[in-house]
Amino acid sequence: MKRSCSSNALAAIRVAGAFAAALVVFSDFCDAGKTSAFVRKDDKALDMPLDSDVFRVPNGYNAPQQVHITQGDHDGSAVIVSWVTPDEPGSSLVLYGAFVNNLTFSAKGKVHRYKFYNYTSGYIHHCTIRNLKYDSRYYYAVGVGHALRMFWFTTPPKVGPDVPYTFGLIGDLGQSFDSNRTLTHYELNMHKGKTMLFVGDLSYADNYPNHDNVRWDTWGRFTERSAAYQPWIWTAGNHEIDFVPEIGETEPFKPYKNRYHVPYKASGSTSPFWYSIKRASAYIIVLASYSAYGKYTPQYKWLEAELPKVNRSETSWLIVLMHSPWYNSYNYHYMEGETMRVMYEPWFVKYKVDVVFAGHVHAYERSERISNVAYNIVNMECNPVPDQSAPVYITIGDGGNQEGLATNMTQPQPKYSAFREASFGHAIFDVKNRTHAYYAWHRNQDGYAVEADSMWFYNRFWQPMDESSASV
Ligand SMILES: [Fe+2]
Repeated sequence: MKRSCSSNALAAIRVAGAFAAALVVFSDFCDAGKTSAFVRKDDKALDMPLDSDVFRVPNGYNAPQQVHITQGDHDGSAVIVSWVTPDEPGSSLVLYGAFVNNLTFSAKGKVHRYKFYNYTSGYIHHCTIRNLKYDSRYYYAVGVGHALRMFWFTTPPKVGPDVPYTFGLIGDLGQSFDSNRTLTHYELNMHKGKTMLFVGDLSYADNYPNHDNVRWDTWGRFTERSAAYQPWIWTAGNHEIDFVPEIGETEPFKPYKNRYHVPYKASGSTSPFWYSIKRASAYIIVLASYSAYGKYTPQYKWLEAELPKVNRSETSWLIVLMHSPWYNSYNYHYMEGETMRVMYEPWFVKYKVDVVFAGHVHAYERSERISNVAYNIVNMECNPVPDQSAPVYITIGDGGNQEGLATNMTQPQPKYSAFREASFGHAIFDVKNRTHAYYAWHRNQDGYAVEADSMWFYNRFWQPMDESSASV
């Protein structure tokens, strides 16, 4: 009897145990994020051929091409204008002004070329124009003396905590037919990004024999239609490294560094691969996944000194860009960002970074607010935990390059992953004021008004509430 009772009790315990286990599994299932069920055509993304219209060389002898702009100082009153002249150096002057028929100002830049194996670049010009009025339309022209080409841009409003401003987000763009769809989709987006936050991997020229730098030129011509009219904020990715000792190219980042200038000195950085800018209500920190970031390195020391400088009463939103994501539940580039996370994540929590955008993985993913900073080798506390002081991590490496989509995900979806989908697309981060920003991800297959994923952000400094309780 006793034995039977015991046996019954044991059975009951087993049933209860199984039930509890089922509850845990059920609870895990309920708490997990969403893996989108969207079905797409899974073809490899093909690069556009060299004679594609988007790569067309502009008419006229020595006509400037590959025109692009970026922010030229720390607070948005300067612009770096860059372009390439193919036949001879020509003029490095930029003419500019507030009226299309009256370019009353001029600034002179510098010109140079570089060689890469058997390739010699065109004449690359960079010119910084300064002391611009905020929130103003400027027209500018390059190609003085030969084929003059005119463009325009709008400067950001003066920095302030409640200034509304809209950023676009693209990563890992490349120059495939899908890349073209992504850029077109971005241009048509009703939210109208005013500045592009680009999270690295530009041309994918390094996938061609001897890193054929002609594909850097085609990429410059392809993106001109956006980058000549609004600043693209650059982040260096692994496809910018171009380190090829077997053909004698041992200077990392040579094409990228020659073609894409950034205002790194204005933020006290000693390298173009990590720097910061203020723009409207945002403080944007760009980090380098492929430059040393360990303790005592220049990047570490710069970031350590940089974060305390961010004044949230001046720039309410703190945004970080990097190439290799820290939180990534795809089976591609898995844990490549881990060592940088170990170094810098405690600072991101301490200084309440609002959002981190990364690329590298050719898919889309958005995290919950989580951190993983408790682990100290001996305490076994090595799991990410919910943390309202932590950023949201967004992987937006789905620009559409020739390497195709990352479709293989870790299973089950980790709890910290709020939404993931392997489709090409872009995103918009739309700051409304110091407390609220609206974020949306747009997949290329949809009409441009469709948001495949979206979220209201509450600012971590001014209103650090749990967004999951926010009404959209
Ligand atoms: Fe990458």
